[in-house]
Amino acid sequence: MEGHLHEWLNLLVRWIHVIVGVAWIGASFYFNWLENNLNRKPPQEKGIAGHLWAVHGGGFYYLKKFSHGPDTLPTELHWFKWEAYTTWLSGITLLIIVYYFNAELFLINSSADGLTGAEAILLGITAVGISWFIYDLLCRSPLKQHPLFLGVLIFIYFSLLAFMLSEVFSGRGAYIHVGTAIGTVMVANVFFVIIPAQKEMVLALKDKRPLDPVYGQNGLLRSRHNNYLTLPVLFIMVSSHFPSTYGHHWNWLILIALSLISVAVRHYFNLRHLFRSLWWILPLSFIAIICLMWLTAPKPHQSTKPSGAVTTNTVFPIIQARCTSCHSSLPTQPGFSTAPQDLAFDSLEDVETHAERIHNVSVVSKTMPLGNLTAMTDEERLLIADWFASLSTLKTQ
Ligand code: HEC
Repeated sequence: MEGHLHEWLNLLVRWIHVIVGVAWIGASFYFNWLENNLNRKPPQEKGIAGHLWAVHGGGFYYLKKFSHGPDTLPTELHWFKWEAYTTWLSGITLLIIVYYFNAELFLINSSADGLTGAEAILLGITAVGISWFIYDLLCRSPLKQHPLFLGVLIFIYFSLLAFMLSEVFSGRGAYIHVGTAIGTVMVANVFFVIIPAQKEMVLALKDKRPLDPVYGQNGLLRSRHNNYLTLPVLFIMVSSHFPSTYGHHWNWLILIALSLISVAVRHYFNLRHLFRSLWWILPLSFIAIICLMWLTAPKPHQSTKPSGAVTTNTVFPIIQARCTSCHSSLPTQPGFSTAPQDLAFDSLEDVETHAERIHNVSVVSKTMPLGNLTAMTDEERLLIADWFASLSTLKTQ
């Protein structure tokens, strides 16, 4: 029952997180696009910086952007902030539900010497808090006069974070904390800088006094960072489906490479909206992805044993000992009411049917057993590798 409740809680919060996240990023993409596509050619109406016609959902829209602001404030002014706040709140809730409730499974590698679950949680929270502190300090420093250099420093900081966390957490644990740190920076930018700047803008308009340009400049810098950080964060949020990334020995480097590529792609689209196309960015990114795919490909295992020496009968007891506490039609692991991902290894046939996936997760990425809770040994992994190699040769004969 507890496992069932936990799954539904996970489902509901994840659903909400995706919905509000789409609303946040969608609005932010839209306003970016709007800003870059305004028709700014003269002549413009008095006090208008640019305008834009659009057709959508069965109607025509006509939008204008004011150079400074309207003479009087409208009675109803829409703000875009709750999308960001609820994305963060639901994300943190999800982090607790998935990773902190089950720190021994998802956050750490239980069989390796190292942290306890509670220590890992504390470390994770500290890493997220410190990240905002360092980022904010960098943005307030004189470095803000050199946005490119500042951007590079921020990238280096998050790369270091990825490296350090991957040394102490499981691959998934490290990835999700880098994602949470970046996401927290983005939401804190909205909460502490961008929205206060907008409030100041509104107040200045009400009091009919000139606006201190510093507010606008700070807001713009943080918005720009958020714009470039969006794609890496989105990759991290879906990365738990891809053990070949987080489960790889060089998982932190893969994260850095994918982030760099996605920042480049974001840059291409930012420039394209401004009709300044650096066309080579897209093909170069594509080539980079192909190289990454090639570099991370699993090396074929050369079995030292004669073909057919390791049969399914040999590995079945290992699977029984290390996997079926969770992957069975009647799991015995507390908190599991059904076999995860509907993968039950109850019979020899089950094991043979799922041979490739079993091999992938227990030999290639070593992401299973989860948190190595059942303490699978390297010798057992090697035996599974031999078994899979001999199955493959049998198939090709
Ligand atoms: C402590 C419980 C537990 C143990 C033990 C365990 N698993 Fe898993 N396994 C899970 C959970 C939970 C998931 C789903 C993970 C997710 O969706 O994020 C999973 C997912 C999988 C998947 C699908 C992942 C994918 O990306 O294709 C495979 C395959 C798998 N396990 C194989 C194994 C094998 C083989 C073993 C034993 C060597 C094993 N598991 C041991 C809990 C466990």
